Amino acid sequence: MTVIFSGVQPSGDAPTLGNYLGAFKQFAAFQAENDCIYCVVDQHAITVKQDPKLLKERVRRLAAIYLAVGIDPDKSILFIQSEVPAHAQAAWMLQCIVSVGELERMTQYKDKSDGKARVNAALLTYPPLMVADILLYNTNVVPVGDDQKQHIELTRDLAERFNKQYKNVLTVPEISTPKQGARIMSLQEPTRKMSKSDENKKATIFLTDTPAQITKKIKSAMTDSSGIISYDKENKPGVANLLTIYAAITGEKIADIVAKYDGKGYGAFKTDLAEIVVNELAPVQERYEQLLNSSELDDILDAGAAKANKIASKTLAKMEKAMGLGRR
Ligand code: AMP
Ligand code: TRP
Repeated sequence: MTVIFSGVQPSGDAPTLGNYLGAFKQFAAFQAENDCIYCVVDQHAITVKQDPKLLKERVRRLAAIYLAVGIDPDKSILFIQSEVPAHAQAAWMLQCIVSVGELERMTQYKDKSDGKARVNAALLTYPPLMVADILLYNTNVVPVGDDQKQHIELTRDLAERFNKQYKNVLTVPEISTPKQGARIMSLQEPTRKMSKSDENKKATIFLTDTPAQITKKIKSAMTDSSGIISYDKENKPGVANLLTIYAAITGEKIADIVAKYDGKGYGAFKTDLAEIVVNELAPVQERYEQLLNSSELDDILDAGAAKANKIASKTLAKMEKAMGLGRR
């Protein structure tokens, strides 16, 4: 069976519709035919300063979101990164085979360190930890958004390097980005990515928004004055983004949606889209609320950590042996 691994940082209070369509929806779909392992990467989150109490809360919330979007603990492993010590241990070994130059070339590092007088060392060494996350589980495929491409390329390079320099113990993974929904744009500035941290709250749909909030945000989404529904990313980025959301949720082809709304105007299209988004998120929200207030969540995470520890410690032992660490 193909092993799928992915991780999401517990940053921000709730994931966005972009996270849902670009990441979570794929995660759930992969479960049917693969061995899936999903992780709340809390050690990655502390590369920037976090409020300890809030971080704990966000770790729980993100774990509940994974389950609410359809991750089934009977089929997949769901766990918290810091509860599996092998990640930090393997990350150290990987730091010993990566160069500072390679890490400085990562665009995420460049973006996050740009213009800062003081930068945490872990912001630079973030990628070897991500590489460890992936390699410890003999991962074949990593589903992520477009923005993570460079990190997955580094993962492949380091796996190959380790195998060549020491012993052939690591699986070299492939990336998988979604066909539809890899990049959901802001509802207010549709040339920018939809983001949790957007200052304009009308720009982003959060998974925890009420039906009324969702409807209002979609109805006030930026379009253009032509009133014609067609897919033209260059000249009509707002409408193109709404069509992408529609297609990513319903699975319908963009051309079919365009034909369906021919001559109907933006009002009718937005009303239907709002209903589609509300109906898609309603069961997610209901399950999320239930989980947050239950002990079921802790039981699932305990079991997930035990299973993850078993797999990860095996790979870690192989890596240590290959490198000559310890006595065994
Ligand atoms: P982040 O919240 O940036 O840590 O991202 C978590 C996951 O969601 C990653 O796989 C991202 O690539 C994906 N993602 C984030 N924002 C968007 C977006 N606007 N559209 C599609 N995917 C996204
Ligand atoms: N760097 C990823 C992000 O910012 C999160 C992440 C950490 C991850 N470890 C991972 C994603 C392992 C996939 C696999 O979105």
